[in-house]
Amino acid sequence: MNKLVLTGIITTIVMLAATWMAVGGSKGGMNDDIVNLLAVAGAVVLVLATVFVVLKYVRQMQDDTATGTLADENWDGIGEYKNELPMGWAITFLLTMIWGVWYWFVGYPLNAYSQIGEYNEDVSAHNTKFEAQYKDITGDRLVEMGESVFLAECKVCHGLSADGIEGKAADLNHRISKEGVVHAIMNGASNLKSDFPGGMPAGLNYMFADGEIDKVAAYVAAGLPASDTEGAALFEKGTCTGCHGASGEGMAYAGPKLNGFDIATVASVLKDGKKANIGTMPAFERLNDKQIEAVGAYITSLSK
Ligand code: HEC
Ligand code: HEC
Repeated sequence: MNKLVLTGIITTIVMLAATWMAVGGSKGGMNDDIVNLLAVAGAVVLVLATVFVVLKYVRQMQDDTATGTLADENWDGIGEYKNELPMGWAITFLLTMIWGVWYWFVGYPLNAYSQIGEYNEDVSAHNTKFEAQYKDITGDRLVEMGESVFLAECKVCHGLSADGIEGKAADLNHRISKEGVVHAIMNGASNLKSDFPGGMPAGLNYMFADGEIDKVAAYVAAGLPASDTEGAALFEKGTCTGCHGASGEGMAYAGPKLNGFDIATVASVLKDGKKANIGTMPAFERLNDKQIEAVGAYITSLSK
């Protein structure tokens, strides 16, 4: 018997024996379970087919000779036959291309499924439901809802009582610190792009004489009290009123409110995040509109 056929028979026996052992031999669940029986039958067919195909090609590699007309070119003695493209291969290639075009333009766009897409759809469905359910909440209940949002999302940085945990984050019991104002005057600010696209220019410190920056910063940090007439005059001298309004009440598109928090100001910070003298506050895309309104109301209530 040919050595190759012998190898084939031995391989078949070994693989069949391994299959038999893998399903648990004679004690296995084969006897009374048609599914197992079918699986084993499939495995036997696979083993036989694999051995047959491998044998066929090994033999072909051993004694087959190529036929046909050689092309004129050769590369270091290696030539190429002028054989036709096999029809089966050509058809498969064509079908693959047609399928590819169909899938790219029709199949995927129409049936597109992705886990991210499903997640986003679920979140937006939840947000719609949430906003519909709680849309009438106002006043104290809104503040309470805001407090729970704050405890879940903001407490880690701003602290339980929103005092900023000894300077780790902004103290939200006050609109802004004196250092924060000085930082804005010296460096300008361009965090709140969505609501104030122009930002605040740097270099406004040149509008002031020695010591005046300190005074105007103290005035703003104190909430722009009318009693501080010197501060108010400096606020006007520094052109601050042009963007922030005469008493720091804020102006749409020009400058945020400085004389206290309101929902819109907090919403601006949540939309774009904020990076200034204390550190970086991340933007909060995952909150829905009602949650933003609520946490804005809560923060506004802290400084009242
Ligand atoms: C050209 C308009 C403009 C002028 C003039 C201007 N600001 Fe601003 N200011 C802005 C804008 C816009 C922002 C929001 C910046 C941002 O996108 O982060 C801002 C932010 C601030 C902030 C930071 C608020 C926060 O939440 O941290 C302070 C404080 C401030 N301004 C104070 C001043 C003072 C004081 C002056 C005068 C010396 C002044 N601004 C002049 C436009 C202006
Ligand atoms: C990862 C830490 C972190 C988290 C979480 C965080 N913040 Fe902040 N937040 C900061 C820091 C730091 C600043 C100060 C930025 C600066 O001015 O340098 C800040 C500043 C702010 C300001 C601006 C204060 C001002 O005077 O301009 C507001 C408003 C604010 N946070 C609200 C929130 C709310 C509401 C949440 C929860 C939804 C929250 N923050 C969650 C770190 C955080």
